[in-house]
Amino acid sequence: MGEFDLKAYLSRRRQVVEEALEKIFPTTSGLEKKVVDAARYSLFAGGKRLRPILCLAAAEVAGGDIGPVLPAACALEMIHTYSLIHDDLPAMDNDDFRRGVLTNHKVFGEAVAILAGDALLTEAFEHFASCAKEGISPVKVVEVIRIAVKAAGYRGMIGGQAIDLECENRKVSLATVEYMHIHKTGALLSASLEIGAILGGGDEARIKAMRTYGHHMGLAFQITDDLLDVEGDPTLMGKTPGSDAAKNKMTYPALLGVIQSRAAAKEHVESSLEALSGFGEAAEPLRAVARYLLVRKG
Ligand code: IPE
Ligand code: IPE
Ligand code: MG
Ligand code: MG
Ligand code: MG
Repeated sequence: MGEFDLKAYLSRRRQVVEEALEKIFPTTSGLEKKVVDAARYSLFAGGKRLRPILCLAAAEVAGGDIGPVLPAACALEMIHTYSLIHDDLPAMDNDDFRRGVLTNHKVFGEAVAILAGDALLTEAFEHFASCAKEGISPVKVVEVIRIAVKAAGYRGMIGGQAIDLECENRKVSLATVEYMHIHKTGALLSASLEIGAILGGGDEARIKAMRTYGHHMGLAFQITDDLLDVEGDPTLMGKTPGSDAAKNKMTYPALLGVIQSRAAAKEHVESSLEALSGFGEAAEPLRAVARYLLVRKG
């Protein structure tokens, strides 16, 4: 097996996702132009496109093609972008930079930023649904929507975000921080993989393996996000480090310190790789993404 070129792979896939997003979320000249422009401002400000890329990769691991899965992959990125716009609001993390530019509310004001997030979240479901037009069975599409709702709502990301706010200025257990991370970040990442596997036609064993991989890589992803907030370079991150400490957030490094947090991230990366042990070369992109988490700068 040759060395896998993750950088080239991510850049190719990012382009596929960007082109699809541009088609499904075009600008408008109607009276609602402002909110659409605000949504597009954050949607096209950059970003790693990790959730859609993982969704497409899981579809391939499951034996499917990426074409019919692309609308769902875009929907996941729209949900993620909405979560970032709202996460940055003064009432939440109160951050000024995101994806290398000013945060949405800094440019468009809070009210429009809230609506832009709402618009992205709502429109996403149109695109999950439109997978049915790509030849995927309506039963699968409904299952995918159910998974997306669970991962994005109070049983997943919103639950995690609410816990995140409640944990500010408090000392909580590691189990609580882990629970928060699994919900606020792990849920949508894991759902991206599960959704890809389902739409790609995977059997139960493959779908389960994607879920397990996603669980551990999602946790490792948020632990490394916490670490970047402590020791990262703002130019490479596209956001301002020190934001967690400024708000006295409960994070892995706040609780365990940097060294032990790195060890925890490594353990979860290893567990995520174990979940892929039954797969061959098709899972190479997923393995490379997991390993990259331990060295990522952005
Ligand atoms: C940031 O997510 C928010 C977290 C869940 C930690 P990403 O680091 O994936 O942000 P983008 O999409 O690349 O901007
Ligand atoms: C956010 O976690 C998770 C989301 C669901 C958006 P953070 O608050 O740590 O994300 P960043 O560091 O602002 O990107
Ligand atoms: Mg936050
Ligand atoms: Mg934040
Ligand atoms: Mg963070």
